[in-house]
Amino acid sequence: MLNHPLPRIDKDEKLRKLLLPYCRFKEGTIWIDEKEKHKIACIDVSKNEEVKKIFGKSKARLSVQDPPYNFIAFTEKQNDEFIKWCKEWITLNQEISDNNSSFYFWLGADQSNHFEPFGRFVEMMKTTGLTSRSFITMRNQRGYGTQYNWMAIRQELLYYTNGKPKFNIKSEYTDIPKVLKGYYKEVGGDVTDNMQRSKSQFIRAGNVWIDVQQVFYRMEENVNGCFAQKPLKAIKRIVEASSAKNELVTDFFSHSGTTLIASEMLERKCITFDYDPVYCEITLRRLENLRSTGKTGWQNSNPFYNEIKNDKKILNHLKKKYNITYN
Ligand SMILES: C[S@@+](CC[C@H](N)C(=O)[O-])C[C@H]1O[C@@H](n2cnc3c(N)ncnc32)[C@H](O)[C@@H]1O
Repeated sequence: MLNHPLPRIDKDEKLRKLLLPYCRFKEGTIWIDEKEKHKIACIDVSKNEEVKKIFGKSKARLSVQDPPYNFIAFTEKQNDEFIKWCKEWITLNQEISDNNSSFYFWLGADQSNHFEPFGRFVEMMKTTGLTSRSFITMRNQRGYGTQYNWMAIRQELLYYTNGKPKFNIKSEYTDIPKVLKGYYKEVGGDVTDNMQRSKSQFIRAGNVWIDVQQVFYRMEENVNGCFAQKPLKAIKRIVEASSAKNELVTDFFSHSGTTLIASEMLERKCITFDYDPVYCEITLRRLENLRSTGKTGWQNSNPFYNEIKNDKKILNHLKKKYNITYN
């Protein structure tokens, strides 16, 4: 049990409103890092001109996009509408990107509804001019499902490129040691095995990632109040593979700020957006917390703990609705 839990903010409009006065963001606010590295913008990414203005002349080398999927979004969008919306922000994404750049899209597949919107999204991507490169599956440790179906434990990640961006092969390796010997082959009279075919002692991640722990409340990186946090290990792998130090990374759907945190840790610059001031504030607090404590989240607490513990209205609400008390 957590000491200071914060329930999902998206599911509790009253809590969201009570937290708003503690946010330095409102619609249109742009936070610019005094170290001149990052920007956090409270902007709806459908607003093309505003988004472009924030980039100015700078171009992103890498985009890591995790849009709200239509079946878990705040407002439910119909599939057609969802795909049309994706096409619009992806076109904008291409405009603010370098001629040689990489794009990663996290996407869901609703198995009870013809794997929507995954198939439609892939079809739509043919019209963007981007090159399809990989379809990565990340294995979750925990899943959902019934006794009558295969348990759902995958997360889909699509990788596309424009031009010829560099790919850093080093980040492709996991920390799982190579133990199994594979086939043997005779090379110039010597019998070799596949262990000798690469210098690394570790196996490659490939396009099935089995080594990434899903975020849960016992992990340091956990951000209470968020519901869709991607694991830092996965985002760092992407950032290391497809960008270099000081290059610009972007994420249109910041939420808990994972891409910004990975960029900070790996010395990249990041421009990130979220149309919700509460998630912009959480993103900024997560960065400040990392810089002041070295911690990547609030495992046993939450980003608004200092304010909540002195706010009777929020304390009453948490007690009444969830029987949560802070001591
Ligand atoms: C699935 S979450 C992203 C999770 C993120 N990758 C992480 O690791 O925390 C999607 C986020 O997109 C934001 N969002 C949804 N529609 C948006 C829009 N039109 N413009 C900007 N942000 C939007 C939501 O507020 C939400 O925080």
